[in-house]
Amino acid sequence: MSQNKWSKQSWRTKPIKQHPVYENTKELEEVEKTLSSYPPLVFAGEARALKSQLAKACAGKAFVLQGGDCAESFLQFNAVNIRDLFKVIIQMGAILTYGASLPIVKIGRMAGQFAKPRSSDTETINGVELPSYRGDLINGVEFEKSARLAQPQRLLQGYNQSAATLNLLRAFAQGGFADLNQVHKWNLNFVKDNAFGKKYEELASRITQALDFMRACGIDSQKFPILREVDFYTSHEALVLHYEEALTREDSLSGEFYDCSAHMLWIGERTRGLDEAHIEFLSGVKNPLGVKIGPTATKEEVMGICEKLNPQNEAGRLNLIVRMGAENIKQNFPKLLDSLRGEGREILWSCDPMHGNTIKASSGYKTRDFACVLDEVKSFFEIHKANGSVAGGVHLEMTGADVTECVGGSQAITEEGLACNYSTQCDPRLNATQAIEMAFLIADMIKQSR
Ligand code: PEP
Ligand code: CO
Repeated sequence: MSQNKWSKQSWRTKPIKQHPVYENTKELEEVEKTLSSYPPLVFAGEARALKSQLAKACAGKAFVLQGGDCAESFLQFNAVNIRDLFKVIIQMGAILTYGASLPIVKIGRMAGQFAKPRSSDTETINGVELPSYRGDLINGVEFEKSARLAQPQRLLQGYNQSAATLNLLRAFAQGGFADLNQVHKWNLNFVKDNAFGKKYEELASRITQALDFMRACGIDSQKFPILREVDFYTSHEALVLHYEEALTREDSLSGEFYDCSAHMLWIGERTRGLDEAHIEFLSGVKNPLGVKIGPTATKEEVMGICEKLNPQNEAGRLNLIVRMGAENIKQNFPKLLDSLRGEGREILWSCDPMHGNTIKASSGYKTRDFACVLDEVKSFFEIHKANGSVAGGVHLEMTGADVTECVGGSQAITEEGLACNYSTQCDPRLNATQAIEMAFLIADMIKQSR
């Protein structure tokens, strides 16, 4: 019995996938000790607040917008990148709130999203085979033997970068930048001339008019923090369990354990085995959790995930993030939802329309077609409507920069155009213009579904 009891370390006795193997175990232990002595990045009360927001989304009374880089980068770490991603997320939040008349729960894939599961353990270039790049928290992207070794010191750099990122996000969220009176200023210059950038300007003007009216009635942002601040949460894939364990702390108020590296953690499609280490670890922390659900997921797997991660069946605890692909979702998701009918499980369903729609362009770039991404989101909404369940959110890989990584959208980025500004460390992201366009289209879908 005792060996089944959860502890911060109990994952270590389970089979584990996609996890780094460190050659220098002594150095790893020292880093773990250092990390365990560092302050937590988030406070348990914040994770509880997010959970209650997610419970609302579960019941269709809010909608979740989760987005950010596929992989954050040590090299591209600067204030402009953080600010512009934050801007686009709150801009999308304004579009969705206005269009769908619902509170939008904003969660960044930020301040800790550094570790990547990979489809292959090695990469071969010109006959040279090296370990795959697994994200800056683990190894380096350069195609050199020394860079591709798993380096424990990177865990400390990841922590430091996460702390600095979160610090800036908190300042933006509460320091006046996110004041609704600034709604015009969130539009990035390169987005303004686009059709959806213009549509955003019109929406911002309507919001400003409404605020002018409210101010005249005595309701202004100086008196009402809700107009001046946003709740902004952080999340990442809990992949490197040495890191997550070291940041897991016992909350002094509740006596429960929280993984204080982020408000919300998720488990990827490749590491959600029911008897494996990642499920074991997250089963014992009280943060809201996500699990990716790919095209082959069965009823038994989903029920197992619910049983292990949400035995009390609490709304807001468990977010299943469906990432089946634009075609597979049409076949597989209705059957899966139907099989769960009558089970009474509290599941917040959201849609990741990115990871099932990755293709290789003829030029060799990994890309995603805006039309397929949109198609998967549409199907997600239609399937829920037909099933009588709630489409609770979206999970996007996106950036505030003017990159050319996904083809299509109103800018009609072509395969040839990808070379223009392709800068992702891992998967292709929607650029700011494509993200704004997506927000307008999703706002319409929410409106129609309710
Ligand atoms: C990701 O979210 O970047 C990811 C790797 O997702 P998945 O586990 O769904 O493949
Ligand atoms: Co990705």
